[in-house]
Amino acid sequence: MPHNYLGLHKSQLPTPCLLIDKHKLINNLTLMQQLAKDKEVNVRPHAKTHKCSKIAQLQLKYGAIGICVAKISEALVMVQAGVRGILITSPIVADNKIKQLIDLIKQAPDTMLVIDNLENAAKLNQVCQKHKLSLNVLLDIDAGIGRTGVHLNQAINYAHKINQFSNLIFKGIQCYAGHLQHISDLAQRRTLSHQILNAAGEIKIQLLAQGIDCQIQTGSGTGTFSLDAELATVSEIQPGSYCVMDQEYSDIEYKEQKFLAAMTMLTTVISNNHPSHVTVDAGTKALYKVATKPRIISHEHLNYDWDGFGDEHGKVTAASGDLPALGEVLELVVAHCDPTINLFDHFYIIENDHVVDIWAIDARGCCQ
Ligand SMILES: Cc1ncc(COP(=O)(O)O)c(C=O)c1O
Repeated sequence: MPHNYLGLHKSQLPTPCLLIDKHKLINNLTLMQQLAKDKEVNVRPHAKTHKCSKIAQLQLKYGAIGICVAKISEALVMVQAGVRGILITSPIVADNKIKQLIDLIKQAPDTMLVIDNLENAAKLNQVCQKHKLSLNVLLDIDAGIGRTGVHLNQAINYAHKINQFSNLIFKGIQCYAGHLQHISDLAQRRTLSHQILNAAGEIKIQLLAQGIDCQIQTGSGTGTFSLDAELATVSEIQPGSYCVMDQEYSDIEYKEQKFLAAMTMLTTVISNNHPSHVTVDAGTKALYKVATKPRIISHEHLNYDWDGFGDEHGKVTAASGDLPALGEVLELVVAHCDPTINLFDHFYIIENDHVVDIWAIDARGCCQ
């Protein structure tokens, strides 16, 4: 852990590196807590964004009822750090991971897992029986992405069958509409998200009427959480990116106040032999590449592009005025936060432009 950087001005850090402005992070957590309170919905933020148990603990402190993770390896890191109330939002099917899951629920019995397959449910039930354990489960419903989840038409039938397994405790449904989160137009995003989440909500209502204890309807990311929370059946939301934000999410229209870009990256000009551009030290190994470009915030007139410069380098051009000098440090908002964070070991925590703490991204690389 590079503690010798504590107290330094951010411009003295070795680049490329990730910074988190602590006040902005707390602002985002507070805003989410307030919105959730107003809407009477629980927040179980997705830790796949930050992969940092310190941020997960802060989210719990600021009102979250637990944490979502995508994979068992992330869950193990979070539980090790004392985080509880975990929902694993992807199915777990491989024997080696089911074994890890058993170890996990021994330590954290309130853990929940999504299921979208009855053979998988039978296997999980059998293993739980063998270990004399119970597993809390949600039925994953496909929101139309075709990624995971059962079709809406199958959901009632699946829920009844899962409910019959002795060692699986049916808690509710997950329906996550990832394909809608970045629709720029708010009205269109609301209409489409309400369409699918209302259909999932109908399943919840029917299951409850049929005597199945379907208390939870979860889903929702940073793009739709406040729209989805308008629906009576939605009991919890699982936004991830809101805590640190990125350029993709900064570009869309919001119903309420926008979250602040709490996370930024520093990169240094390392070559300036061309009148058209300079080269910086952040390429695809530091900045995950998507269609949206990172936005340079330290200089108004400069633009970043990967532009084929490869793993280690990026290209910076000037819309007007001068190019930055050799050795100059630029600060930017990353294009897509989750996979970018996964490339780093630490966040430098910044207050008034100085390093006040260094937090390990302790679940980075945990994609198993
Ligand atoms: C199942 C699930 N829930 C929640 C999220 C969080 O979404 P976001 O980062 O868009 O807020 C994701 C992100 O991909 C996800 O896959």
